[in-house]
Amino acid sequence: NIFTCISQNVHVPVVTQKVEERKKIINGQYKCFEKMNRDQPYNKSGPYCNRTWDGWLCWDDTPAGTYTSQNCPNYFPDFDSTEKVTKYCDETGNWFRHPETNRTWSNYTLCIAHTKDKLKMAYILYYMAIVGHALSIVSLLISLAIFFYFRSLSCQRITLHKNLFCSYVLNSAFTIVNLITVVNNPKVVQRNPIGCKVLHFFHMYMLGCNYFWMLCEGIYLHTLIVVAVFAEEQHLHWYYLLGWGFPLVPASIHAVARKKYFDDNCWMSVDTHLLYVVHGPIMAALLVNLFFLLNIVRVLVTKLRDTHRAESNMYMKAVRATLILVPLLGIQFVIFPWRPENRLAGEIYDYIMHILMNYQGLLVATIFCFFNGEVQGTLKRQWMQYKTQWGQRRREHCSTRSTSYTATSITEVPAFMYQHDCNSEHLNGKQTEDSELVALKTGETYA
Ligand SMILES: *[C@@H]1O[C@H](CO)[C@@H](O)[C@H](O)[C@H]1NC(C)=O
Ligand SMILES: *[C@@H]1O[C@H](CO)[C@@H](O)[C@H](O)[C@H]1NC(C)=O
Ligand SMILES: *[C@@H]1O[C@H](CO)[C@@H](O)[C@H](O)[C@H]1NC(C)=O
Ligand SMILES: *[C@@H]1O[C@H](CO)[C@@H](O)[C@H](O)[C@H]1NC(C)=O
Repeated sequence: NIFTCISQNVHVPVVTQKVEERKKIINGQYKCFEKMNRDQPYNKSGPYCNRTWDGWLCWDDTPAGTYTSQNCPNYFPDFDSTEKVTKYCDETGNWFRHPETNRTWSNYTLCIAHTKDKLKMAYILYYMAIVGHALSIVSLLISLAIFFYFRSLSCQRITLHKNLFCSYVLNSAFTIVNLITVVNNPKVVQRNPIGCKVLHFFHMYMLGCNYFWMLCEGIYLHTLIVVAVFAEEQHLHWYYLLGWGFPLVPASIHAVARKKYFDDNCWMSVDTHLLYVVHGPIMAALLVNLFFLLNIVRVLVTKLRDTHRAESNMYMKAVRATLILVPLLGIQFVIFPWRPENRLAGEIYDYIMHILMNYQGLLVATIFCFFNGEVQGTLKRQWMQYKTQWGQRRREHCSTRSTSYTATSITEVPAFMYQHDCNSEHLNGKQTEDSELVALKTGETYA
């Protein structure tokens, strides 16, 4: 799992980890003795060092005077399993003995050589995640305030946006609570209260909601443009069912299965395929969404090019935002299995992954709200109106002449144009100018 992978990096719940470590080592030892019995006897000539178990790793028969090496074991979180352990077989066919202790010794120093750097990096990523979710919450709340405050913006697509934003706000809130109270808090993990599993359940549920509301956006546009061709209002309750209802299913199945088959402390581990119960539907939703969006683009480009040129342009704008977002939200699932072995590349990968994972809310708010032409137009108009009123008040301060006529005309005209604009999604296209143009014009008129 990539959404909780930060927990792998950041810290180690001490006690549970000890038990896990011992289990892994005993398992490794058992396998090693099996292998030593099974392997053929050494059949090359010359002296050699005997196969052996050094307490952590298994070593094969090694010719005298050579270094042998293998990857570091994964027993301990501060061991880097991409680094090498070396063991030297001396000229007489004896394993190297450490001069201080006079005991056979394998060189594990490289395994922890970069632990400090990695710990630092883990903390950077941890705070990056918190900052990302905090920024997401702030930007989403601002966007929601804009959507609720400006009545002229309310139409079905904005209603979908509101729900999508709410799911992102909740997801970020749950993530921040989880990061602060569980991930960075070994005592809680050790106590393993039921609360942290409930939190994990809601976290998984909200994650599903994010992607299924995004799917709702795609389905809505597809129904609007391809199936019904700019037709009347749709019934939104199916969208509510899909966006808030359906993700409960995988989240619940995951919780039950986790309880039964992989009941680790606070369900923090990511080494389980049970997470596919949650991630599988998400990936399916992304793929289906991409299919819908590409189909919309195909229809807009081919069928509607000549007959409804203006509408096509307008809808292309609406589709474009979703079309940009879906691959951005999905790319982490594509690159997730490909973490580079190289240390520097691995670090860059970690940063990219964390930005993709933790700054999604900010991205969604930016593309769906702050970069949205309709919203920008509305805000511009509001700003113009505010400026005019302010200027007017100043003028009134100087002279008592009334200018109320201008003021009312300014408030009414854009609001009317705006209403028309948003309704045109289901008015079967009498609108010929798109919202950004209208916004610009009103801006110019009253500038
Ligand atoms: C030594 O044993 C290996 C298999 O364990 C075999 O492939 C190889 O041919 C043998 N070499 C000699 C010299 O017998
Ligand atoms: C290697 O192990 C075999 C059997 O376990 C033993 O007979 C032999 O003496 C050992 N050789 C050395 C150099 O320890
Ligand atoms: C180290 O141990 C080996 C065998 O246990 C012994 O033969 C050797 O003399 C010891 N060397 C030193 C410096 O104590
Ligand atoms: C162990 O390996 C490190 C890194 O290769 C090296 O610097 C160090 O000298 C080695 N230690 C011993 C005792 O050989």
